[in-house]
Amino acid sequence: MTFSEFIATQQKRVDAALDRRVPAESVEPTTIHRAMRYSLFAGGKRMRPLLAIAAADAVSDAPAGIESAACSLELIHTYSLIHDDLPALDNDDLRRGRPTCHKVFGEAMAILAGDALLTLAFEVLAKLDCVDPERRSALVAELATASGTVGGMIGGQVCDIEGEGKFATAALLESIHRAKTGALLKASVRMGAIYGGADAAQLDAMTKFGEHVGLAFQIVDDVLDVEQSSEALGKTAGKDAKQQKITFPAVYGIERSREMAEQERIQAHLALQMFDDRAERLREIADYVVRRNA
Ligand code: IPE
Ligand code: IPE
Ligand code: MG
Ligand code: MG
Ligand code: MG
Repeated sequence: MTFSEFIATQQKRVDAALDRRVPAESVEPTTIHRAMRYSLFAGGKRMRPLLAIAAADAVSDAPAGIESAACSLELIHTYSLIHDDLPALDNDDLRRGRPTCHKVFGEAMAILAGDALLTLAFEVLAKLDCVDPERRSALVAELATASGTVGGMIGGQVCDIEGEGKFATAALLESIHRAKTGALLKASVRMGAIYGGADAAQLDAMTKFGEHVGLAFQIVDDVLDVEQSSEALGKTAGKDAKQQKITFPAVYGIERSREMAEQERIQAHLALQMFDDRAERLREIADYVVRRNA
């Protein structure tokens, strides 16, 4: 199976799992379920579930039910996007090629849709039936910490917002990116590895891989914001400079940022040295993260 076939197959698997877990649009109160589904099924790359699945496959032979754990990551991620786009945060009109959730459903419903996706993510993990209770609670803790305020997604978003227009040091830049985006990507890899029953050495290697891929991902997100069109990205391009965000291109310029992303890609590969061919999909994902156009 080629890498693009792998991606397409796993995206379908994740979408089917999400579809089973999110209440249908006809379920009352219908507005919230329409809003949740509108943002969730708008065509995201599903990068976090893909990382979880590929990490699980690298340590174990395609463990059953991994797509459920993986879809909890997409629920958190989509919630973070809906809230990131709100007028009080980045104030964006376009996401995943569509008007943002608050543009269609209003701010109140967008806030609640984000809240609902966040809550559902933990319900999904709590109800996992293919893993023992110990692993289940480890997965819950991973996702909660990565989404949280101390080095996690919310903490990173706080520093991103408070950093607008401020002087950026290299250390602040890296800590924002590691938290707002890196934490959830690292958790995706770790959750897949934990689900697959990784031993301590394997989990350690996966953690390093996740950190490098996570940082590379946001460096590239910043570069694409400068280089690509809104049409290609499915979200408003050129926003970071307008909002004076602390980004890699702002601090290092485009060329150096690209080189730094490439360094992270190489480090990600090195982190996987102890794994055989079963980690090949993870290596391909690291390459894709750095070389993607959207
Ligand atoms: C965009 O994430 C926001 C960041 C955390 C950088 P993605 O680029 O994974 O967005 P989708 O899920 O494909 O829409
Ligand atoms: C968002 O970072 C990170 C999140 C936690 C959602 P950005 O603000 O750069 O994401 P985009 O560019 O709007 O997708
Ligand atoms: Mg933002
Ligand atoms: Mg944004
Ligand atoms: Mg961005």
